[in-house]
Amino acid sequence: MEILDGKKISNQIKDEISAEVSEMKAKGEKVPHLAAVLVGNDGASLTYVGSKVRSCERIGFESTLIQMPSTTSEIELLNKIYDLNNDSDIDGFIVQLPLPPQIDTQKVLMAIDPDKDVDGFHPMNFGKMALDMSTFIPATPFGILELLERYKVDTKGKHTVVIGRSHIVGRPMSILMGRKGWPGNSTVTLTHSHTKNITQIISQADIVISALGVPNFLKAEMIKDDAVVIDVGITRVPDETKEKGYYITGDVDFKNVSKKASFITPVPGGVGPMTIAMLLKNTLLARERHRNRA
Ligand code: GUN
Repeated sequence: MEILDGKKISNQIKDEISAEVSEMKAKGEKVPHLAAVLVGNDGASLTYVGSKVRSCERIGFESTLIQMPSTTSEIELLNKIYDLNNDSDIDGFIVQLPLPPQIDTQKVLMAIDPDKDVDGFHPMNFGKMALDMSTFIPATPFGILELLERYKVDTKGKHTVVIGRSHIVGRPMSILMGRKGWPGNSTVTLTHSHTKNITQIISQADIVISALGVPNFLKAEMIKDDAVVIDVGITRVPDETKEKGYYITGDVDFKNVSKKASFITPVPGGVGPMTIAMLLKNTLLARERHRNRA
């Protein structure tokens, strides 16, 4: 069994990006600038956005954090997006999800300039991804592809089972694993809450990508010997013995599944840090595109 070490690989990627930023600075060029919009004060979202902004600072990007109250109206958020779309200093920005219920998420994602949509959530970018065109690939699926590539995991002709059809992870992952090339060329089954015989389907998988958010869902007896297991779950479980009052766990019973899997991502330290690294990579790509167009 080999651990797909997202912490290590994400640090390598950040070092690679950092070296490119140093070169940009040496040439007197503008460095990439990422903005993040956070509406409300959901604890997990605050943590994620904080990590994204801190990572920018560490690698030499400029970053801007825009915090808006949970009572923000849709039009107020759309106005902020308008400003960011038209601010030539900002190369890319994200609106952290989920948004409060008074705001229509689809409307917000559609308002983001596709050239600055470093999350890859705009329908134009999502469509380009599905058509194998060059675009921003959503950071979590992009991070999983990068882990598979850097650990040389064979995906061709394999049966990949994706658990969960969210627009952020499951749906794009199912498209990417089935596309031509490597990582890809898999035969993909996308499972969800209405899937019948899910345990039987999982038992046939060469690669399992679980993005469910249910702690300990995936047990050792459910997987094939030597399956590749990617755990995208990040659930906060209340625990008063911990300093923060909770601990983080994935969808996978790591202790037992790791004994049977060929490759496995841990939680924390697997897919999570890769998501941030790939957001930075998309922001670097956005900067390069803007520079080439200027
Ligand atoms: N919420 C959970 N994951 C993500 C992400 O990758 N991007 C944004 N914007 N919101 C999220």
